[in-house]
Amino acid sequence: MFALPLALLAFAATGLADPTPPALTYLYSVNLTFAAPVEIGSVPTGNRAILTIAGGAFSGPKLNGKVGSGLDWGLTDAKGVFSPDALYTLHTNDNATILVSEKGHAPHVQILFETASTKYAYLNTIVGYATGGPNAAGDIALDVWQIGA
Ligand SMILES: *[C@@H]1O[C@H](CO)[C@@H](O)[C@H](O)[C@H]1NC(C)=O
Ligand SMILES: *[C@@H]1O[C@H](CO)[C@@H](O)[C@H](O)[C@H]1NC(C)=O
Repeated sequence: MFALPLALLAFAATGLADPTPPALTYLYSVNLTFAAPVEIGSVPTGNRAILTIAGGAFSGPKLNGKVGSGLDWGLTDAKGVFSPDALYTLHTNDNATILVSEKGHAPHVQILFETASTKYAYLNTIVGYATGGPNAAGDIALDVWQIGA
């Protein structure tokens, strides 16, 4: 037998316990506005387009401010499922810059953050969940939660 690393053994043990769902903490809602897309077209994995994120705004109990710029080079598969793959920045009202990376399968999105801000440092170690879609204005509107307390 190979010895399993201790961390893995601990994970296996909790896996046997009655699982309780993690709490969700609401962070903010965001509207992303887009410039004209650049269509790459039909590629072996699906249909690729480069969606340039040109701005937007976000607000909520934890974070408020404006969206900077970024892009989403998401893929639409043969069944029409869009899988976002995006990087963009949030600029808070109190001058922090936060890098957001999004991946998922619409309408389910996983979010990771990176920031040098001390106030928002907690974002560096959490995993976010977002869901949403196009709104009446043609923006993408997402509600974002922190998974786990
Ligand atoms: C997003 O857009 C909607 C519709 O225009 C608006 O009601 C909402 O306040 C906006 N949210 C933010 C965070 O700006
Ligand atoms: C953010 O930066 C602006 C422009 O430099 C400044 O006027 C404002 O006081 C700053 N706000 C905070 C909370 O640091």
